[in-house]
Amino acid sequence: MLSQKRSNLAVLFVCLGNICRSPMAEGAFRSAAAQADLDCEIDSAGTASYHLGEAPDPRAIATAKANAVDIREAKGRQLESEDFERFSHIFALDTANLAGIRARQPKGARAKVALLLDAVPGRVGEPVADPYYGGEDDFDAVWQDVALAAQHLAERLKEDGVSAQF
Ligand code: 4NP
Repeated sequence: MLSQKRSNLAVLFVCLGNICRSPMAEGAFRSAAAQADLDCEIDSAGTASYHLGEAPDPRAIATAKANAVDIREAKGRQLESEDFERFSHIFALDTANLAGIRARQPKGARAKVALLLDAVPGRVGEPVADPYYGGEDDFDAVWQDVALAAQHLAERLKEDGVSAQF
């Protein structure tokens, strides 16, 4: 039986562990989407299974909180094949995860897959650096990157909807 194609706007952010960068990107984008009055399903996942069911890293929670965003409710989960139909857009936080996502993408699935910073003019092809073994400055740098990308994404998706290409 043919499955029904979905047409809603839905955005998934994917990093390695789903406890640092992607929940921060999810939180920043929830905030930007609300500001832009954008109707969009939003979630995050990891390519790895190290932190299933866990809350975000306390450093990620603190950095988001310092920027007036609450990400405490996020729960680590792994990217699954249904995500490629459920989401219109999947954004990888770095190139290794982009490759991991592409390797799992079922043929003909609806999701458009791109690197998150491809949404930012002048930053195409750049990764959001993994802060896990870093310090507070590294988490601040992640926030700067994901908040900037979230603004650009919200604008582009508001204009072009599900057909937006990055
Ligand atoms: P994330 O960071 O991919 O931004 O969530 C990491 C989280 C956990 C690990 C590596 C990176 N880890 O090795 O457990």
